[in-house]
Amino acid sequence: MAKGLPGIPLQDRLIVALDLPESDAIELVGKLQPSVNTFKVGLQLIVSSGGMGVVERLGELGARVFLDLKMFDIPETVIQSLNQIQTRHRHIVFTTIHAFSRGLEGALKFRDASNSLKILVVTLLTSMDHTDLTDIGIEKNVMDFVMAQTRRAADAGCDGVIASGLEAKVIRKEFENLLIVTPGIRPAWAQVPNDDQKRVTTPREAIINGADYLVIGRPIYRNPLGNDPREAVRRILDEIAAAIDERDASSASAVG
Ligand code: C5P
Repeated sequence: MAKGLPGIPLQDRLIVALDLPESDAIELVGKLQPSVNTFKVGLQLIVSSGGMGVVERLGELGARVFLDLKMFDIPETVIQSLNQIQTRHRHIVFTTIHAFSRGLEGALKFRDASNSLKILVVTLLTSMDHTDLTDIGIEKNVMDFVMAQTRRAADAGCDGVIASGLEAKVIRKEFENLLIVTPGIRPAWAQVPNDDQKRVTTPREAIINGADYLVIGRPIYRNPLGNDPREAVRRILDEIAAAIDERDASSASAVG
């Protein structure tokens, strides 16, 4: 069992992905607060709404935002965009860089220390597997590729990585203090029609393997539990809490 970072409140460990039209997204936030208070805004919501207006709205509702832009551009463009995010939107607590290019290190190391923005590197989309890597000419297996991306992210001073629960254990073994944020979560009771996620784990598996935060979308609002997102969230938070207890008990017995 892998350790995780301590001191994260239970309600912050679940990040709900708002891959929905704007009105549905805001309605869902209203239903889920205060059990959950961190919401992920990605391209789908930004391009289908009034752009960053939806992020402002979430701020007005007192939510913490994970702005999932998966930036992949020349260093200067990424640096300027990160600077804008950290100066204009203080309630954005996470954002993502899709891949890593040399030249970003300075911006990451010397960014505004007073800001709570955490910069995460997407190691490999959880919808991709070994065949997808081979298709784009990468000869590494998934674990080696994810670890290579993680080492670059850590060397550059990023706060954490996005990785599936299948790689979390190996990442945590090498990097005790790196944040691990895990999508591709599928509770045992969840069935997502036409699911595109390939590297999936249950909430328990991800936490036991060392994940700190879980990003979950469709199992919450397209779920077989009579479609009540509050019930889905309650079950997921219970599963996370039990897995943290299990993980803590196992590290305590390993020490004792
Ligand atoms: O609906 P589902 O639970 O699959 O949503 C997962 C969310 O996590 C999506 O918003 C997706 O964009 C995001 N994500 C991912 N894999 C990554 C990074 C982000 O699935 N590597």
